[in-house]
Amino acid sequence: MLSPFLQILAPELTDRLLADLLDLNDAVTVNLHIQSIDQAQAIRNIKRKMSDLQKMTIEEQKKAVRSGYDMDIIPTDLATYGEEAKNLLQDLQSRNERMFLVTVLVENIAAKRQKLFNDIFAASGVAQKYNCALKRLDYQQEQGLMSSLALGTNQIEIERGLTTSSTAIFVPFTTCELFQEGEALYYGLNALSNNLIMANRKTLKNPNGLFLGTPGSGKSFSAKREIVNVFLLTEDDIIIADPENEYGPLVQQFGSQGQVIDISPTSTNYINPMDINLDYSDDENPITLKSDFILSLCDLIIGGKEGLSPIERTIIDRCTRLVYREYLQDPCPENMPILGDLYELLLKQSEPEAQNIATALEIYVNGSLNVFNHRSNIQMDQHRVLCFQLKSLGKALKEIGLLIMQDAVWNRVTANRSKHKTTWFYIDEFHLLLKGQTGSFSVEIWKRFRKWGGIPSGLTQNVKDLLASREIENIFENSDFIYMLNQAQGDRQILAKQLGISPHQLSYVTHSGPGEGLLFFGNVIIPFVDHFPKDTLLYSVLTTRPDEVAGTKA
Ligand SMILES: Nc1ncnc2c1ncn2[C@@H]1O[C@H](COP(=O)(O)OP(=O)(O)O)[C@@H](O)[C@H]1O
Ligand SMILES: [Mg+2]
Repeated sequence: MLSPFLQILAPELTDRLLADLLDLNDAVTVNLHIQSIDQAQAIRNIKRKMSDLQKMTIEEQKKAVRSGYDMDIIPTDLATYGEEAKNLLQDLQSRNERMFLVTVLVENIAAKRQKLFNDIFAASGVAQKYNCALKRLDYQQEQGLMSSLALGTNQIEIERGLTTSSTAIFVPFTTCELFQEGEALYYGLNALSNNLIMANRKTLKNPNGLFLGTPGSGKSFSAKREIVNVFLLTEDDIIIADPENEYGPLVQQFGSQGQVIDISPTSTNYINPMDINLDYSDDENPITLKSDFILSLCDLIIGGKEGLSPIERTIIDRCTRLVYREYLQDPCPENMPILGDLYELLLKQSEPEAQNIATALEIYVNGSLNVFNHRSNIQMDQHRVLCFQLKSLGKALKEIGLLIMQDAVWNRVTANRSKHKTTWFYIDEFHLLLKGQTGSFSVEIWKRFRKWGGIPSGLTQNVKDLLASREIENIFENSDFIYMLNQAQGDRQILAKQLGISPHQLSYVTHSGPGEGLLFFGNVIIPFVDHFPKDTLLYSVLTTRPDEVAGTKA
């Protein structure tokens, strides 16, 4: 440990000095002891200094005359000091500045001697850049340490007088910080002050969130990091929509509390789209909302360009109500209907349209796409973390699979609400769920989730998709949490306009590295960096880089 003090040679300082010192990636403590001086006393001091300087000048002039050279030639230092003292006096007398005595201590700590010397060398370099010097406190190391502790005592009597504006640049509180208490989660370090960013999305008016960034900028990574923190620090449930099948390794780390569900035509993990729970809706009758969902589903299956005709809608609604009758009378799992039951009911209706709908449904009931015609065989409520893998859905089932997954999530969120439990829902590759029926459902999720204790997060690289229509734009406007990583040129301009961010703020999402960007939290905007240590088990399950993923499997 070594504590040098900062010798300020420069008449003017900029606030970059402190920032650059703190940017050093070493253990460095910067300590400031600031003492204000009585204004009258300060002015008196300066006047005294000025007359000292004048006296020295006269001496020099006398010397010049005696030696026979021009008496205008005086030592340059004397000239500059005289000038500075004059300016200082003017500042104090007419510009409402005050005088402070400041001691700046910089303390380096390192495990190895060599490292320590390197660190000090780096710190000296920074000081030099700003016309200052770091001087080692020889024979005063102990006093240096005492003065660097948070005790408020200064045992180093090396002080420098500074005016208010020069002192103010050492006060780093002009950065905006975000550090909440309670169930706050880690979101990186403040890029300006290096302080931790700890935030609790539940305190936002609207906790809905977006993770935006070009591919490889770290969207999935930061979402996974948040998932880990939610898992460890809260009691909440987590659901993940995983179109790239990349969250599996992470969810497996949660042991019996995590469950990966593969949704594909050949999967043996079954989800029953007819599943309902009695808390499914806010109003008296959960069937009304469920009927909406079944209508969307049939719309997808039969739809075509015009969508369902009014007659078809009536028939489907009628059958939906009938198919749940038994379950509502005796809500036990054996009475839960499946798609096949709806199909049978449709066949029994007299209208020819009913036969049409039934025929369209057939492939999902008896045909090759019958994965969704089974009772659910996953005890979803037994696990805190659910991950829906969607990669192998295939083209035929894509939209239907996504819609059914969304409904399953809704089921879980509503059940959790009655248990007063928060549900975090992560949707990776969010742009896939912004079109057609799933798009409407996503908009609904964004509107309704908050009330039901759900916290949805969408991850996407396609900012333009988020602004595609008025309806989808709602999602954007109703997200008080935006984790913005590196952006492509075009998107940057769009976002700047949409969110009103300055060119300087934009620089944090321009060619930024993975895990660096801007955090929008309510009305706070903070640049962050998160360089996750790579030699950890956690990193190996968070990363998607093929070389690193392969490394963990070997
Ligand atoms: N905060 C971070 N710290 C360290 N490495 C990161 C961080 N964020 C991302 N990376 C690296 O970048 C890679 C790509 O990140 P990823 O989240 O998969 O990008 P995408 O934005 O496409 O989802 C990760 O596999 C990881 O190696
Ligand atoms: Mg990703």
